[in-house]
Amino acid sequence: MQKILVLDFGGQYNQLIARRVRENNVYAEIKPYNKITLEEIRKEGYKGVILTGGPNSVYDSTSPHFDKELLNVGVPVLGICYGCQLLAFMADGEVISAEDSSEYGKTDLAVFDNILFKDVPEKSECFMSHTDYIKEAPKGFAVIATTSKCPVAAMCDEKRKIYGVQFHPEVTHTAYGKEIFRNFLFKICKCKGDWIMDNFIENSVEKYKKELSGKKVILALSGGVDSSVAAVLLHRAIGQNLTCVFVDHGLLRKNEGDFVEKTFRGKFGINLMRVNAESEFLDKLSGVTEPEHKRKIIGEEFIRVFEREAKKIGKVDVLAQGTIYPDVIESGKGDSAVIKSHHNVGGLPDVIAFEKIVEPLRDLFKDEVRSVGLKLGIPKELVWRQPFPGPGLAVRVIGEITKEKLDLLREADSIFREEIEKAEIKNANQYFAVITDLKSVGVMGDARTYGYTIVLRSVTTDDFMTAEWTRLPYEVLGKASNRITNEINGITRVVYDITSKPPATVEWE
Ligand code: XMP
Repeated sequence: MQKILVLDFGGQYNQLIARRVRENNVYAEIKPYNKITLEEIRKEGYKGVILTGGPNSVYDSTSPHFDKELLNVGVPVLGICYGCQLLAFMADGEVISAEDSSEYGKTDLAVFDNILFKDVPEKSECFMSHTDYIKEAPKGFAVIATTSKCPVAAMCDEKRKIYGVQFHPEVTHTAYGKEIFRNFLFKICKCKGDWIMDNFIENSVEKYKKELSGKKVILALSGGVDSSVAAVLLHRAIGQNLTCVFVDHGLLRKNEGDFVEKTFRGKFGINLMRVNAESEFLDKLSGVTEPEHKRKIIGEEFIRVFEREAKKIGKVDVLAQGTIYPDVIESGKGDSAVIKSHHNVGGLPDVIAFEKIVEPLRDLFKDEVRSVGLKLGIPKELVWRQPFPGPGLAVRVIGEITKEKLDLLREADSIFREEIEKAEIKNANQYFAVITDLKSVGVMGDARTYGYTIVLRSVTTDDFMTAEWTRLPYEVLGKASNRITNEINGITRVVYDITSKPPATVEWE
């Protein structure tokens, strides 16, 4: 398989670079600069290498550097932003730092005739984000683009096929970024562009048929996209040797448990164990109000239940997980502050002994996982399901979690989702209800009522790292509020959350 290496120097758009490559049906993998050697790069047979941006300055002694021989690696290299400066530095060019030369945001770009800029007009807009800049191109390099502040906005050494751009072609603000990627991949690296999802499915099924032949495999199915796609893919390879354990912790949305059961056991004929553990979870959570404490209990209880059920199956050889590429990359870094400890089944291998773990989706991005899911025939509503946190509705019940509050929340949440879907709101990427611990007075008919306050939350976001509150039409909000207070006994008030992230988070807990 042809592949491109994205050498990671810590920039914030690195995943985006890999995605831009993959959008062209060329496989790309991201490796931190200090986790791969020049030797390994040569051995892996990459068709090209892309050096990413990064927050550092090349002259800083603590900055990430790489073996200078990369310039002679023998395959095309493209440096982006810091990656471009690093190339200049390695080739003995001059990189200087000057506040008054820094550029941020959309910038006018002028390009010269070069294969990297085929189909890019002479003048266009690009996205810049830098303080340091290359004053003079190194020996052997030609300047192939400029901006008013940047004498070397792009450069190349055609002989060695080394290219560098100071701007960011991977972000959409660079008008002709896609063309630049295409030129690099197809005209310079001579990639074929034959990496497609059909091949991925076929290859995976073949691979696991052999690798897991005669083995008993267990998978914790949550009903989320990742574990669902992993389950159907593995089921295609090994059929009844796969058992999916679906722990119903009683913190699911309305009808969700039944839907999962119907889809996986009914439609796909997958060996599914549905464990009804509602009362166990609620017992453990009783009296607990602190969000992280709730998460911890749910995480631990999940493992306990899963372990107990796994034992019932008898001997199990392999644990399968729905890990996807961003999880893999994230877990390779992990210095950032813990805002919320997201609960996943990642802790499982420590407590149960398995011969091995398989992660059939560990090379795919979310959108690629979705596309595999659709090709496997998984229903659209599941594949396009909005994200749902591992601890489920527990993080949407403020204060103590009780069956009463959960049931009220399930109804309110279902009404709100129904109204948004009916109105076909396109920019609501995640929307749900939260039940607070706050009761207030209402009036119904001529009688006083006293019930809970429901919060409606909807966010517009690409990546869930930052999010805007969705400007929902008043009619939709009004309809949802009316229905929730009329149809559900015990709710007197409905409010809409108009906080973005940051400073708030998407979930309330
Ligand atoms: P926050 O609340 O951190 O949410 O802004 C960002 C995205 O992550 C989801 N989320 C979770 N997912 N376990 C998960 O698997 C969790 O504990 C968890 N907490 C939040 C949230 O729904 C949103 O999509």
